[in-house]
Amino acid sequence: MPDPRPISAATRALQERAHRLIPGGSHTYSKGDDQYPRAAPPLIARGEGARIWDPDGNAYVEYAPGQRTVTLGHGYPEVVAAAAAAMADGCNFNRPSVLEGECAERLLSLFPDADMVKFTKDGSTANTAAVKLARATTGRRIVALCEDHPFFSYDDWAIGLTPVDGGIPPELTAMTATFRFNDLASVERVFDAHQGDIACLMLEPARYIEPDPDYLPGLRELCDRHDAVLIFDEMTTAFRWGLNGAQAVFGVRPDLTTVGKGMANGFSLSALLGDRELMCLGGLDHDRERVFLLSTTHGAESPALAAAMAVIDVFEREDVVGHLYRAGADLRSGLQPVIDRHGLQEQVELLGRDCAMLFTTRDAAGQPSQGLRSLLLQELARRGVLAPSLMVCFSHRRAEIDETVAAFDDALAVYARGLTDGVDDLLDGPPSRLVYRRYNA
Ligand SMILES: Cc1ncc(COP(=O)(O)O)c(C=O)c1O
Repeated sequence: MPDPRPISAATRALQERAHRLIPGGSHTYSKGDDQYPRAAPPLIARGEGARIWDPDGNAYVEYAPGQRTVTLGHGYPEVVAAAAAAMADGCNFNRPSVLEGECAERLLSLFPDADMVKFTKDGSTANTAAVKLARATTGRRIVALCEDHPFFSYDDWAIGLTPVDGGIPPELTAMTATFRFNDLASVERVFDAHQGDIACLMLEPARYIEPDPDYLPGLRELCDRHDAVLIFDEMTTAFRWGLNGAQAVFGVRPDLTTVGKGMANGFSLSALLGDRELMCLGGLDHDRERVFLLSTTHGAESPALAAAMAVIDVFEREDVVGHLYRAGADLRSGLQPVIDRHGLQEQVELLGRDCAMLFTTRDAAGQPSQGLRSLLLQELARRGVLAPSLMVCFSHRRAEIDETVAAFDDALAVYARGLTDGVDDLLDGPPSRLVYRRYNA
């Protein structure tokens, strides 16, 4: 099909400039050219609500906007106004701003089990701080991560476990152990293998697979029994599964929580929250050994804090989480009959809760296929949908959902052809690649 959203030579030149000047051409590997088909918009010029525009003026409905940070919609006026007002009053000072305490109070009001919070800019730094605090408080070395969860931090203790471990001494990786989701026996094995040396367990309390009823309480019990710190990474679940995260949905209390995506509608803000007993080690009023917990120049930049408070206002006033579930449910009920009609139930399966939906792109043998994923993303992009997943935001309304269902209907017809004939003749450019690979070639 001729590309209805042509990408101009000028835009391709901007894309090449990015690669010349920025390793990987972007500041997040999951935004990279190796993650999307050539037909996807190479760069974004602007966004509004659930839609984005490339530099050529082509429009797309965007899912998981801003890597799931944009929960309300691009340029959400109330958030823009709050951030702009804070900006006009100065972004950063030599002493803490009043906003720091105000935003701390607002965020902690959502997480009643936590007493204190430290803000930072990225989920990675928040999780690294959680690990450091766990090690300091327990005096132990080993961090146990859930191996079914793909990303906690770009720092060595986490990325050292992936094939992209260049620049990370193996001695550091040796201090990270792993356990399985929904497998308490694997957690017991980790405690047995590193007797008295497990500082913490870290996991996302839920992803597209729900925790078994006894799993999270079982982790709590094991951590209590072994005096280890339980850390929930709620980067993607807070402000989506529930305003107060999956911990409220499942009624399990972690010792430390990290949140970020979703909290400030795309502004850079994340946070480490936890018990006073743990968090105060990073403070100035104790006699124990000090912990240099989180100390970033930009951590409490005023516009991001003001944005976060405006986001919390909107979530509380408008039942945003309810909307995410309802819009996701509408999308699912629109898409499933289309998938069924194309006979692709085994290949394109809708996974996860309505508020956080993913889709599979399997081949005829039922195996995940990068080629077919690229083909589906290509055909969706050509029809004005950029959908690395199907996570909705507050600005996904009937019109966006209907457009998406129509785009899927056409795109799945091409997918079905790719399934029988192969993708080579259908795909413009190479298929996408896994982020975690040792070599580019
Ligand atoms: C569950 C989870 N934890 C941590 C991170 C790291 O966050 P950041 O990219 O802000 O460092 C991510 C990012 O995708 C994530 O999805």
